[in-house]
Formats: sequence, C-alpha cells, structure tokens
Amino acid sequence: MCGIVGYVGPGADERALDVVMEGLARLEYRGYDSAGVALVNGHEVATAKRAGKLANLRELLAEHPMPPSSTGIGHTRWATHGGPTDQNAHPHRGGTDGKLAVIHNGIIENFHALKSQLLAQGITFTSETDTEVAAQLLAIAYEEAQDLTAAMRQVVNRLEGAFTLLAVHADAPGVVVAARRNSPLVLGLGDGENFLGSDVAAFIGYTRRAVELGQDQIVTITADSAEVIDFAGNPAHGTPFEVTWDAAAAEKNGFPTFMEKEIHEQPHAVADTLLGRSTPQGRLALDEVRIDEADLRAIDKIVIVACGTASYAGMVAKYAIEHWTRIPCEVELAHEFRYRDPVIDERTLVVSISQSGETMDTLMAVKYARQLGARTISICNTHGATIPRESDAVLYTHAGPEIAVASTKAFLAQITACYILGLYLTQLREAQAAADVPEILRELAAIPDKIETLLGRMDRVREIARFMADSRSVLFLGRHVGYPVAMEGALKLKELAYIHAEGFAAGELKHGPIALIDAGQPVFIVVPGPDTPHSLHDKVVSNIQEIRARGARTLVIADEGDDSVAPFADEVITIPQAPPLLSPLLAIVPLQVFACELATAKGLDVDQPRNLAKSVTVE
Ligand code: AGP
Repeated sequence: MCGIVGYVGPGADERALDVVMEGLARLEYRGYDSAGVALVNGHEVATAKRAGKLANLRELLAEHPMPPSSTGIGHTRWATHGGPTDQNAHPHRGGTDGKLAVIHNGIIENFHALKSQLLAQGITFTSETDTEVAAQLLAIAYEEAQDLTAAMRQVVNRLEGAFTLLAVHADAPGVVVAARRNSPLVLGLGDGENFLGSDVAAFIGYTRRAVELGQDQIVTITADSAEVIDFAGNPAHGTPFEVTWDAAAAEKNGFPTFMEKEIHEQPHAVADTLLGRSTPQGRLALDEVRIDEADLRAIDKIVIVACGTASYAGMVAKYAIEHWTRIPCEVELAHEFRYRDPVIDERTLVVSISQSGETMDTLMAVKYARQLGARTISICNTHGATIPRESDAVLYTHAGPEIAVASTKAFLAQITACYILGLYLTQLREAQAAADVPEILRELAAIPDKIETLLGRMDRVREIARFMADSRSVLFLGRHVGYPVAMEGALKLKELAYIHAEGFAAGELKHGPIALIDAGQPVFIVVPGPDTPHSLHDKVVSNIQEIRARGARTLVIADEGDDSVAPFADEVITIPQAPPLLSPLLAIVPLQVFACELATAKGLDVDQPRNLAKSVTVE
C-alpha cells in the first residue's frame, strides 16, 4: 500500500520536487502514515521526510526548502517494520557519505539475516526498517560497481520477499534505478521526461503512456531513456498500455468525498464491466480469458479466493455460479486458503477477486493454487497489477479508479464480473441453464438504471443514518444471497463509522445471536424477493417477527411492492425488483449510503478511515 514516485526530467526544468509531490498526493488514497522525498542536486542527495500526512512534509519543506533538481523520488509509507516515525519514513540513506537514497514498497523477508551481517561489519542503522538494510547493501555494491544499475542488480539477487525499490545516487545525476519483485511498478513515458510509480496515479497528470514492469525486472530511467533488464542482467521489456482514465476521473466530480462519488458511479461500474462482453444474440465473448476451453470444460470445482469486501462479492457469486453451471463452488478467505491443505488439482479453477490486484494474501493464495496445478483467473480492477500477472487469465472489472479506501463500486463490479464468468462457463459447458443466459444478460443490463433510480431516493436512509449517529452496535441479517450483503453492510459500517456491526445469516439467529436482541437494538434485515425459491421470503419475515417481538428496531430492505414486511418493520427501505440472484447489486446500495452518511454525521474521514489501507500488500 505504500505510494512510490520517481522522476527524471530535463536538466533545465528542475521541477522534480513539484512532480514528485503531486504524484504522492494522487497516491494518498493508498493509505499511509509517513512521507518523504529525495532529490539529486549537483553532487549531493537532499532528503526530507516526516511522519504523518503530506501536509507535515510540506510544512518541513517550507521551513527547510530543498534545492532545485530534475531527478527525484518520493514515498508514502504504511508502516510494517517499525512504527510511523520520522526515522522510519522513507527515503533511507545508504553508506556514510549520504550520496545514496532508497525508497521501498513491500517486505524484505530475509532482512534480519542481512542486517546481522551488516552489523557484524560495523555498519550502524538509524531506523527499524527493512528498507535501510537494502540502502546499506546498495551503498556497498555501488562502491564496488560504481554503477547504480549494476549495484541494484547485485543487491536484488540477495533479497527475498516482495519489494519495489527505487534508488538515486549523487554521482549519477539524471538517473533513477528501480527494481520489482512481487510488488507493483509502472513506468510512465513522457517527452523528455520519464516517471515511475506504484500505479499510474503517480504520473497521470503528465502522461498516459505506461509500461507495466514484469516480475524480477530492473529499469533505469533518464530524461530520455528507459532501459529494462532482468535480475540476471539480460535485456527485458515490460508491457506497454495506454491509461484510459484521465486525471479528472480521480477527482471528486463535485461530490464532497470520493466515497460518495464512487457510490454514485456504481451504475457505470456495472454497465462498463458488462460492456463488450456479450453479443446481441446473448453469447458471452470473453476473449481475455486465455484458458483453453477444453480445460475449462474439464473443471470439476471452482474455488474463489479473496479478502474483505472482495470475499463477500465471491460469496454472492457462489450462489449464481453454482446455480447456473452446476459446478461446486467454494469461497475461501485467501489468508486461510493457503494454510488449510486444500484439495486442489488441475481440474480446479481458482478465481481470485481483488480490486487492487496487490493484496498479498490473495496473491500468495493464487501462487499456491498454481503450484498445486489449478487453473487461475483473476478478477481485478487495476491494469498492470501483480495478481493478474500471476494468473493464467484475467477478467478486468471496469469500475475506474476506486480512491476511497472502503470499497463500493469495485464490489458491484466484482459481482458483475463473477456473473459474467459464471454465464460464460454455463454456455461453454452447455449446462442446463445455458438456455436462460440471454434473458439473464438482459436482466443484468437493466440493473444500472435500477441502481440509478435507487440512488435517487436515499433521503430517508440518510435521515435514519443521522438519527442513528450515536449507535454503538448495529446488526445485519440476510439469507441466501442476502447473507453476504448483510456481511458487507456490516463491514461498511465498521470501517467507515468505527461502530461494532455484525452480519449473519438470518437462519442462524435462533442458534445464538438472538440473545443479542435487546430493546431498541437496531437490526437491518435484507429480505429476499417474494419469488425467491424455498419460501425463503416468508422465513425471513418470520425472523423479523422474532426479533421485533424482543424489542429490536427493524430496518427492512425489501422489494418494491412487497407489502408483507410493513407490519413488522420500523423502517422499510424498498429496492427495485430484480431476479433474486442479481438482487445484491441493489440491496447493498442503501447499506453503503447508510454507513457513509452515519460516518459523515460523526465527522469522520470516509475516504481514508483510520488504520486502513487501500491495498494490503503485506501478509
Ligand atoms: C474494502 O472496503 C476493504 N477496505 C477491504 O476489505 C478490501 O476489500 C480487501 O482488503 C481486499 O482488497 P482488494 O480487493 O484490493 O484485494
């Protein structure tokens, strides 16, 4: 989740500090707790770093201006090894002459052993970080090689774990060298200037020509060149792509927060994810799924691996995929999957879901699944991310950049992409539901307008949220596909409003949780549509009666026209009707708006909630 920016521009401009600081500002959404920059000026490297937000760094720079420079690197750090202090902030210097500075994203897993070796050589450290170890190693290697690229190559071959490293040296003005393994790095190609970033937001204000660096690659940039080699020193190349969204897309478009903007972008997120993936005749056309059709026909199990909100998207998808394809489908928290000795083989399709494509738990689960022979598909919202690169195939969601740390539009896009994958497999394997696919696609195509309609009538939900701003505990109930909706609704309230919230299956109520019901206890209940099979609708209405009889304050989410819930509801929030399996795309919206409004009423930062990071790139 650290933010990384690198820049080399024309000597005459000397605007490196401005470019780097702008890039760091665009990367703030990744979540961080310290920031710093390093500039190469003549024959010295100037650094400035400070714990806290960028404002603290700007304050430091105002007090102690940095020299003009055309070469610079910058970093926003989310603390892993060592707390968020000035000393632990990046950049870190190597050597004793202060000529080298390094920034880093990831975790160097063997840094303790390397640090012990350096300490034994009499080298001292000023921080608790793994990054400073890399900086010291690089300084030693540079002394020997007198070339920053060669020094980088020597060092990265000694490191284990996940890292993106950027380095500058006073004796190499006009050069930034970077290396990556299991951590993101994107190159931005300008005219007479070049950029590096942990994602394209770092340089989107300057160029849309990007290159994603591959695993175990080193790139050396100057103002006019970008040379890529692999860790063995052989010439290599990244994957060029055009950034399709512009800087404005990352702005708030008039909304007070990214969270509210992104909640209102959900109709587009669903529509854009559907776009171009089916023919007018209702055939799925997924040319990006580069897995042999025969292999897909042979699949006998699907395992979805994800974390957090993405895992709840997987839980929704499970109901639809199993119903349509008749392939057994499990949903596993990625960080549990790896350690439970799962039964996986070449006939297993492992589907990872990740907005950032950098979640380390999910990445490691995908790598583990591939070691066991599984076919892997990544559902991801971030072009150039690591998880798609580590998968056999990718199905990108097109939600656009999701800046707010708490996920909303990506969640709906992930569910949509899972539906598309499920329908694709249904047709490919000529499952019984294949005949229904064109109708299901028509129903899916109607969802964006229904979300838009729903968003236009959230005033009462906002009023309820403001009224409940002092709540200390809220429960969420759901059944069938409503169960993961309840789980996601609870997570939104936890991460935005810092209120204890618990989601659980409505059928589970009588097995214990009903003991939680006390007079006035607010409970949201997601009611299945009246035409949901197995009379689940009536069972959930009974659940509402059970808790209402014990004093709960029932806030019911139900289909338009479902009058059966009114007698037992303190509040009824209606959603447009949709086929049961597709209803989560609608049912979650009031819960997102509720959590966002309540957190706002509490004066909290809904875009960057405390303790959270947009992408958890550590295990
Ligand atoms: C979303 O609201 C949460 N911030 C978090 O649970 C997130 O969904 C999870 O960390 C997975 O992130 P990813 O989709 O980028 O892999």
